[in-house]
Amino acid sequence: MSESSPGGPERRARELRRALRHHSYLYYVRNRPEISDERFDELFRELRALEASHPELVTPDSPTQRVGAEPLDAFETIEHTAPMLSLDSSADVEPLERFDERMRKALGDDIGYVVEPKLDGASIELVYESGRLSRAVTRGDGMRGEAVTENIRTIHSVPLRLRTADREVPPLLALRAEIIMRVDDFEALNARLLERDRAPFANPRNAAAGSLRQLDPRITAARPLDIYVYDILAIDGRPPPTQQTTLEALREWGLPVNERCRPAADVEEILAFQAEIEERRDDLEYEIDGIVIKLDDIAARDEVGETSHHPRWAFAFKFPPRKEVTRLLHIVPSVGRTGVVTPIAFMRPVELGGVTVSRANLHNREEVARKDIREGDRVRVQRAGDVIPQVLERIEEPGRERKPPWVMPAECPSCATVLEPRGPYTFCPNLFACPAQLAGRIQHLGSRHALDIEGLGEETANLLVRAGVIARVPALFELEAATLMELEGFAEKSATNLVRAIDAARTTELARFIYGLGIPEVGVTVARELASHFLSFEAFREADEETLQNVDGIGPRMAEEITAFLVRPEVAAVVDELRARIEPEPPPRAGDTLAGLRIVLTGGLESMSRSEAGKKLEALGAKVTSSVSKQTSYVVAGENPGRKLERAQTLGVEILDEAGLLALLSGGPGALSTPDEAAP
Ligand code: IVH
Repeated sequence: MSESSPGGPERRARELRRALRHHSYLYYVRNRPEISDERFDELFRELRALEASHPELVTPDSPTQRVGAEPLDAFETIEHTAPMLSLDSSADVEPLERFDERMRKALGDDIGYVVEPKLDGASIELVYESGRLSRAVTRGDGMRGEAVTENIRTIHSVPLRLRTADREVPPLLALRAEIIMRVDDFEALNARLLERDRAPFANPRNAAAGSLRQLDPRITAARPLDIYVYDILAIDGRPPPTQQTTLEALREWGLPVNERCRPAADVEEILAFQAEIEERRDDLEYEIDGIVIKLDDIAARDEVGETSHHPRWAFAFKFPPRKEVTRLLHIVPSVGRTGVVTPIAFMRPVELGGVTVSRANLHNREEVARKDIREGDRVRVQRAGDVIPQVLERIEEPGRERKPPWVMPAECPSCATVLEPRGPYTFCPNLFACPAQLAGRIQHLGSRHALDIEGLGEETANLLVRAGVIARVPALFELEAATLMELEGFAEKSATNLVRAIDAARTTELARFIYGLGIPEVGVTVARELASHFLSFEAFREADEETLQNVDGIGPRMAEEITAFLVRPEVAAVVDELRARIEPEPPPRAGDTLAGLRIVLTGGLESMSRSEAGKKLEALGAKVTSSVSKQTSYVVAGENPGRKLERAQTLGVEILDEAGLLALLSGGPGALSTPDEAAP
């Protein structure tokens, strides 16, 4: 058939899209292709050619649009449709038994579970509006994450459009899923990275998460990512009644669902599943770190509810960490960005669950002494869910002569300044001139939660310091592309890109600037608190210890650390210079009377339309959502409200009528009469 076929190009494009979508589904989701790769490519090329000659026929969910997007400057931060909670977890049987007891006590003995592999990847929210993928948001802090929609679109097993053949699609469907990288693919990717002299990923989870966070979707497209969907986060309409029917619905919508999920009646069956899957753990094509147990009945879930951290209706039973024995070759002191000198163990490489481990952090000199670990010893290493392995203990080797105990050097291995012990730790006091600390500070300033300078990672920071291009942190802002191009690994494009990224960081959020300074004790959260409390860098800098303690989360010890750091002359000089180059912007002021409220609208209103009401609420800082949960602050019920009203009643969420809505809009929550006052 050609363009001149009946119905013309538009119809043909529609046919091609439908066929390609169907065959992609069979290939990537069902693993049961019905046509050859060649035939698929042929259809694909035909569609692409058709769209090229008739650009008006391109639809956003066309199979050709998986890698259409331009690189982004930054990811947008977006609030989740409903909070993406964590899981309560343990590697012991007892907490699992207590979980089961709690469920039986709350719901009676007539309960059932679904058990699923706990996939060790990156958690993501997928939102489908009218069946079309409209956004994908990383888990972030659970409330909001980064919109990585264009990157997710490049994953072939993610349908851009849900199937409707077997099941109707609701107007809004928010899903929770895990992005994974299969172990084989992970190893191949690392091999490719090493070939190009790039740092490999520590494990498949990091590789998946790192691949999602690429600003250029073409890079993500080249990474072998996959997805499993396991939960409905929010739905407009009636949710399936159980987890089993949820998984079935997800499958019918054409989404990949893990085939190992199954029902379990009690703890015995849960343990049997765990034993079975743990035995096959090393043969599975993807990494898992345990199993997840979920109440099957969705209505029962609402009854047991959730904490701010995790739902009470689910439990993660984790695998014990993997352990292995190897030989410790060297202990090397390493200077971190804050001047702490950490002993690092270099070991004979050993495989720990698909990941090769050759280094471990020994924390401090007392830890080395306490465990009596020496170079040449046989040691047991463990890798918990974490990336960083631990040296657990040394293994006795009777009759084998050991090396003398390891001692921390007296001088900094990076700048030869005399080291200072502080408690069990050891510090290099040469804060800004020690090359190791300088490189660490530069890297920190450019890191994701600080100025977020793309291209300024560990390697580059080290290179800049090693090559003598930067001798002080503020010199970063004087870097020229021509200088960079003389360094190994830089070409014209990468050099100008880095200079441009540094330039772009001259205006930034106040919290990022504060965090980027690397003040002891000031992490991302404290930096945010400081920014919204002081609103200007100068006000923060002038604050004394007492004033600092007025800030949420700051106690006397932290206040002292902060002021002591900022008054040091070498710190003050660097801060002055950075401040002269960077313009930190204060956070938005709290004029939002409804900030922090989550509101659901249902039914018709008299004085305005629902969408108008939504806009007005949002303008005052409220979050308007489409489904009712325990997190919902108010449900506004107008004429003929839907099931959302029932759900609000079940969950005990406060319900407002139209008058209540108007009061909220004009005077904030304080303008609502309290239940007491309203009582006759
Ligand atoms: S359910 C509110 N099911 O584990 C309950 N989570 O440690 C939502 N995970 O962030 C979680 N496989 O990314 C669930 N089959 C599965 C899972 C799973 C992996 C992850 C998820 C979550 C983390 C919690």
